[in-house]
Amino acid sequence: MKDKYGRTVDYIRISLTDKCNLRCIYCMPSDGNIFFEKEENLNNDEIYKIVKESAKLGIRKVRLTGGEPLVRKDINELIEKIYLIDGIEEIALTTNGMLLEERLEFLHSHGVKSLNISLDTLNEEKFKYITRGGDIHKVFRSIEKSLKLGIKIKINTVVIEDINKNEIIDLINFTKDRDISLRFIELMPIGEGKKFKGVSNGEIMKIIEDNNLETVILERNKKDGPAKYIKIKDYKGKIGFISAMSNCFCEDCNRIRITTDGMLKKCLNWKSDINLKKVIREGKEEKLLETIKNGIYNKPKMYLFNKQDSNEENRNMNEIGG
Ligand code: GTP
Ligand code: 5AD
Ligand code: SF4
Repeated sequence: MKDKYGRTVDYIRISLTDKCNLRCIYCMPSDGNIFFEKEENLNNDEIYKIVKESAKLGIRKVRLTGGEPLVRKDINELIEKIYLIDGIEEIALTTNGMLLEERLEFLHSHGVKSLNISLDTLNEEKFKYITRGGDIHKVFRSIEKSLKLGIKIKINTVVIEDINKNEIIDLINFTKDRDISLRFIELMPIGEGKKFKGVSNGEIMKIIEDNNLETVILERNKKDGPAKYIKIKDYKGKIGFISAMSNCFCEDCNRIRITTDGMLKKCLNWKSDINLKKVIREGKEEKLLETIKNGIYNKPKMYLFNKQDSNEENRNMNEIGG
C-alpha cells in the first residue's frame, strides 16, 4: 500500500532479538546491557501474525535483523512459517556472520536469497577489537560459501575515524574478484554511535578518486534501498554508499520496522510508538491489520538526526534492528 506521501511500502524489517554474540563498539556497550526478557519479545506465532497481516497490505519482502537474528534459537521455524505466507516473495537476513556458515543450506532452501553481512575491516586483530571478540575467519568462510550457493551478498561497512579509515581501499579491493556489494554506511548518532566520529561518504569518494580508481556511477534503482552504487572499472562487485547522515533516501523509503518487543516503527529515527504486541496479547487481533495500515499510512516524510525532536528514537541500534 501507499503511505500519505504516495510512497509504496512493501518491505518490513523485523528485529528478532536485541541480543548479539558480538559487542561492536559503536553499537552496544561492553557491559550494562539490559536486554528484554524472553516473554517481552514477540514469539514466532506473533511475528507470523504480523507478517501475514502486513502481506495483505502489500508487504512483499521481510528482512530479519537483530541484534543478531541467528542467536534466536527458533529462527528456523519462523523462516519456515514466513516462507509459506501468501504474498511474501523475499526473505532476507542482516547478520554478523558468526553463526552463518552452518545455517546456509537451510536458509538457501527456505527462500533466503540475500544476506547482508557486517564487516568493517579485513584485519583479524582489528575485527576482534571492533566487535570485542569476533572471529573474522567465520565471516570470510560464510561469504565464500554463500557465493557458491548463489546467495546474493551485501557487506555493510561502517567507517570510523582512527579505526578503519585506512582500510577503505583494501575493502574496495575485496570486491575485485567477488560479485558482492560492499556498502559504506555513515555512522549514525544512535546509542553508542554517538561516542565515535564517523567518516562521511563524501570523504570516502575523495579517497577513491585520490587512488585513481576509475568509477562509474550506477543509475539508482528503487530496490537499492538506502544505498547509491558505483562500479569500479574491471571489478566484479559494486560499491554502495548509505549516506544516512549526509543524504537521506526518505523520498524513496519503502519500509516499516518491528522492534524486538513488538513496536511498529514508522521510520528508523522515529520513536517506537505503535504497540502491536499489545494488540495481539489483549486478544484484539481483528485490529491488527488496521493498526499496521495506520502505521504505514502515517510514515513521517523524513527523519532528521540531531535535531532534538521529541519524536526522535532513543533506543540502541541493536533494539531497532538497523
Ligand atoms: P536492503 O535494501 O534490503 O538490502 O536492506 P538495507 O541495506 O536497508 O539493510 P541492512 O539491514 O543491511 O542495513 C544497512 C544499513 O542501512 C544499516 O545501518 C541500517 O541502519 C541502514 N538503513 C536501513 N534502512 C534505513 C532507513 O530507512 N534509513 C536510513 N537512514 N538507514 C537505513
Ligand atoms: N550507525 C550506522 N550503522 C550502524 N550499525 C550498527 N550501529 C550503527 C550506527 N550507529 C550497522 C552495523 C550493521 C548494520 C545492520 O547496522 O554495522 O552492519
Ligand atoms: Fe551485534 Fe551488529 Fe551491533 Fe555488532 S553491529 S554488536 S554485530 S548487532
